[in-house]
Amino acid sequence: MSDNTIKNNNISDNVKKEIEKRRTFAIISHPDAGKTTLTEKFLLYGGAINTAGSVKGKANSKYAVSDWMEIEKERGISVTSSVLQFNYDGFCINILDTPGHQDFSEDTYRTLMAADSAVMVIDASKGVEAQTIKLFKVCVMRHIPIFTFINKMDRDARDSFELLDDIETVLGIRTCPVNWPIGSGKEFKGIYDRKARTVRTFEAVATGGAKSAAETDYSIDDEELHKVVPDHLYSQLIEEIELLDGASDPLDLKKVQKGELSPVFFGSALNTFGVGIFLKYFLDMTSTPLPRLSNEGLIDPVEEPFSAFVFKIQANMNKAHRDRIAFLRVCSGRFDASADVYHVQSGRKLKLSQPQQIMAQDRQVVSEAYAGDVIGVFDPGIFSIGDTITVPGRKFEYEGIPTFAPEHFCRVVQLNSMKRKQFVKGITQIAQEGAIQIFQEYTAGMSEIIVGVVGVLQFDVLKYRLENEYGCEIRLEALPYGFIRWVSDPGTDVTKLKRMNNVKAVKDMKGNPLLLFVNDWMIKMVLEDNEGLGLLEFKKN
Ligand code: G4P
Repeated sequence: MSDNTIKNNNISDNVKKEIEKRRTFAIISHPDAGKTTLTEKFLLYGGAINTAGSVKGKANSKYAVSDWMEIEKERGISVTSSVLQFNYDGFCINILDTPGHQDFSEDTYRTLMAADSAVMVIDASKGVEAQTIKLFKVCVMRHIPIFTFINKMDRDARDSFELLDDIETVLGIRTCPVNWPIGSGKEFKGIYDRKARTVRTFEAVATGGAKSAAETDYSIDDEELHKVVPDHLYSQLIEEIELLDGASDPLDLKKVQKGELSPVFFGSALNTFGVGIFLKYFLDMTSTPLPRLSNEGLIDPVEEPFSAFVFKIQANMNKAHRDRIAFLRVCSGRFDASADVYHVQSGRKLKLSQPQQIMAQDRQVVSEAYAGDVIGVFDPGIFSIGDTITVPGRKFEYEGIPTFAPEHFCRVVQLNSMKRKQFVKGITQIAQEGAIQIFQEYTAGMSEIIVGVVGVLQFDVLKYRLENEYGCEIRLEALPYGFIRWVSDPGTDVTKLKRMNNVKAVKDMKGNPLLLFVNDWMIKMVLEDNEGLGLLEFKKN
C-alpha cells in the first residue's frame, strides 16, 4: 500500500521528521539590492554549489540555471523563477527564487503564495525601493513572517536608524534589529549581536568561492575589541546600543510569525559577512510548514495525507516537446510518485508524471517530496493556477491564488487574419498559464483584445511565443493606462458610471467588469463620483 492513501493515521515518524525539517521561503528585493548574491551565499553554506556565480546568469554568463526559455537566453536575464533546495544544519531549505529583473511578472507575486516566509533584501545605501513595496504588499496580505537583510554595509550606507524608520514608515511594519552595524563603507568594522552581546568583526573577502571570511567574535567588553574598532566607532556603538535597548520593539516572536514585526539583520552578501548569523537566527525563528486554508478549514501539514496546490505553470521549458510544467507546492503529507493522486478541479485520478525538483543547477526527477517542498510535474493540459491535488477520496480545495493587477496594457492587433483560430487559441492558452491577462472591450469581440501584464517584458514573451509556437504575427499598440481595478460588485452596469472620460471599461475572460485608469488620481475621482462603487486591486479567485 502506498503512502498516498486516504487515511494517514499512522504518520510515520519519518514523514513527521522530514516535514519538520522543512523551511520554505522567498527572497524579495528591488533589482540590484543583492538577492542573487545572498541566495548564492546561502547555497554555499549548504554546500549545494561550489562556487559563487552559478545561481543566475548575468548577461555575459555562459550558464544560467533558470534560463529555460529562448528569450531568456537571448537577453541573458531570468524571466521565470526557480526553486532551490539545500540541506543545512539539519534543516531542508527551499528557496523560492523570484525574477530579479525590473520586468518581473505576475509569477513573482504567485511565488510568494507558495512561501511560508520572506526575506527582504535592502540595499543599505538606498533603503526601501519601489519593487520591494509591491512584493511586500503581497506578504502582508498573507501575514507571513518577513525578515530583513540590510545588504552592502561594506559600501557607504544610510544611517541605520534612518533605514529602520524607512522600513517602518514606507512599509508599515515594525522592526527589531537582531544585530547592529559598526560603521559602513571603508569604516565598516563588523556587527554587534544584541542577544549574545558580541561583536563579529568584518574582513573583506575576495569574491568567489570562499564560504566566509575569517570570523572573529569579541565580547562587547573585551579589551581586544578596541584594537579592531576605533574609539569613535566604539563609543557610537555603545550609544546606539543604549538607544536600541531603550526604544526599539522587543523581539516578540508571535508578532514576527504574524508578519507584524520584522527582525532586521545587517551584513554584506558579497563578502559572505553576516550571512551565517542571519541563517542561524532565521532558521531558529521561522516555523515548519504551516496549515493552509481550504474550503474544509485548515489542512494540517503533518496530520493530513498528501495535498498540494498549483502556483505556477511554465510552458515550453523543453521546446522540442512543447510541454507545460505545473509547479506544485506540497502542503501536507508525503508525495509518493508511484501512487495515484486526485485532481480536485477536474475530478480526475491520475499519476503525476515526471515529478522533478528544481535544484540549484539542474532538474532532478524525484520519487517523493514532503510538505514544504515544491515539485514540477508534467501538465497534460488540465491544471490551472490555484488547483488542488490530493489523494483519491479527498475533495477539498485550497483557497485560490488571487489575480494581481497588471500595470501595463497593450491592444493586440493580429496581422494575418487567416490565422484567427491559432491566435485565439494561443493567446487564451498563454493567458491560462498566467503570464498575461486578457481583457475585452465591451463594444468589441475577440478581434480586439487588450493584454495586461505586470512587467513589460511579458509583452515580448507574448509576441515571441505567438510567433514561434502558434505562427501568428501580431503588433502591440501601447495604451496609456497604468492602473486596473476590478469592480467589486460584478453586477454593476459600468456603462452607467459617472466621470468616465479617460477611463476604459473592459471585462475579463470570465465576464467580470474592470476599469482601466491613466493615473491613481482618476481612481479617486471615479470612486468619489459614484457612491457605493467598490474597486479592488487583487481579485480573489
Ligand atoms: P539582485 O539579484 O538583487 O539583482 O542583485 P545581485 O545579487 O545581482 O547584486 C547586484 C550587484 O551588487 C552585483 O554587482 C553584486 O556583486 C553587488 N553586491 C551584492 N551584494 C553586495 C555587497 O554586500 N557589497 C557590495 N559592495 N556589492 C554587493 P554587479 O557589479 O552588478 O554584478 P557582478 O558583476 O558583481 O556580478
